[in-house]
Amino acid sequence: MRFIKIILAVVVCLAVLLAVAITFTIGWRPFIGPRVRPLTSRVFEKTPQRWARGKYLVENVSACMDCHSPHDWTQHDAPIVPGMEGAGMDFSVMKGLPGHVVAPNITPDAETGAGTWSDDALARAIREGIGHDGRTLFPMMPYGNFRKYSDEDLASIVVFLRSLPPARNLLPQTEIIFPVKYLIRSAPEPITSLVPEPDLSQQVKRGEFLVGVGNCADCHTPIDQHGQPIAGMDFAGGQIFEGPWGRVATANLTRDPSGIPYYDEALFLQTIRTGTVRARTLNQIMPWFIFRNMTDEDLKAIFAYLKTVKPVKHLVDNTEPPTMCEICKTAHGGGDKNHKN
Ligand code: HEC
Ligand code: HEC
Repeated sequence: MRFIKIILAVVVCLAVLLAVAITFTIGWRPFIGPRVRPLTSRVFEKTPQRWARGKYLVENVSACMDCHSPHDWTQHDAPIVPGMEGAGMDFSVMKGLPGHVVAPNITPDAETGAGTWSDDALARAIREGIGHDGRTLFPMMPYGNFRKYSDEDLASIVVFLRSLPPARNLLPQTEIIFPVKYLIRSAPEPITSLVPEPDLSQQVKRGEFLVGVGNCADCHTPIDQHGQPIAGMDFAGGQIFEGPWGRVATANLTRDPSGIPYYDEALFLQTIRTGTVRARTLNQIMPWFIFRNMTDEDLKAIFAYLKTVKPVKHLVDNTEPPTMCEICKTAHGGGDKNHKN
């Protein structure tokens, strides 16, 4: 009897320890599923103002069409395959993803696209990370950034998506590998209260908003082997993108001497508008051809915000052959010139 009691006590202790460990590490969501709110029957009224704002955000700010359309990667401005705007993209061409990732067809095609998904299903997917079928979306779809979109901007985005010409394009569904498939369930977060308009009156705040919904940090912050951003290295570059466009690392956008201290507003605008930095041509995985149609006011605000970002020492130079970098632990041009302190 005594022996059984001891065993029981040990088992209970282990169970408690495991529960505490789960609570403070990956949390319970991988086991019990994501936070989800039920769908509502709301319908966004179509107005010309919403359509115009939605078009600007979808095509020129949030790069929705960069991920959700097939491209001709042989061209410097990676044009969308004609007639396929929003028809989805299969990311199996991109190296390093944890599984087969597919950005779905979000045109109003009823059979292969979003034609039968409700307005609120689209809205919930965009800001809260739950697909029309209740699935946790792989966070490469930047719903964490899109949480900053006000209710009005969200309505505008959905109104614009509804106006796209329906494109027939049957794609497979995303299949994420174990255990990532379960770990991502912690990412979605329901929005149940109003999201007000952002403060765009001050230039730096305006820039911060645009850099957020423009997903700049998702690419320009280096990541660790689990795909998580490396702490303290915001905008310091070095994340690798490999696919039909070649193999490139993102640039350090901070004002450290190893970053882009020589940029002024005019050079920044010219870079984004032309995809070239003076004589150097930028790789097309940098979506300059999306951002180039932003207004001068918005691009200047982005530059003003980038100037306020903490400088980080991290040389990334795609004109040199890749060498191992001690700081971000990947191989990129100029990597061997970086040393931990
Ligand atoms: C960096 C690439 C990327 C960007 C930028 C992006 N998406 Fe996505 N999106 C994805 C991927 C990949 C998925 C599929 C994720 C999955 O299947 O787990 C997705 C899923 C979705 C879904 C869910 C569809 C469903 O099954 O219910 C919608 C809606 C959507 N995106 C709309 C948008 C809109 C609107 C924007 C711009 C505001 C946008 N996306 C920007 C990559 C992207
Ligand atoms: C899909 C990933 C991706 C996104 C999103 C992205 N970039 Fe980039 N960016 C890159 C890559 C990769 C390079 C390096 C290209 C090269 O060297 O050929 C780059 C280069 C740049 C450069 C040129 C720096 C230099 O070398 O002189 C600037 C400026 C820049 N990005 C700004 C931005 C801003 C601002 C945003 C957001 C509005 C942004 N990028 C979003 C991938 C991205």
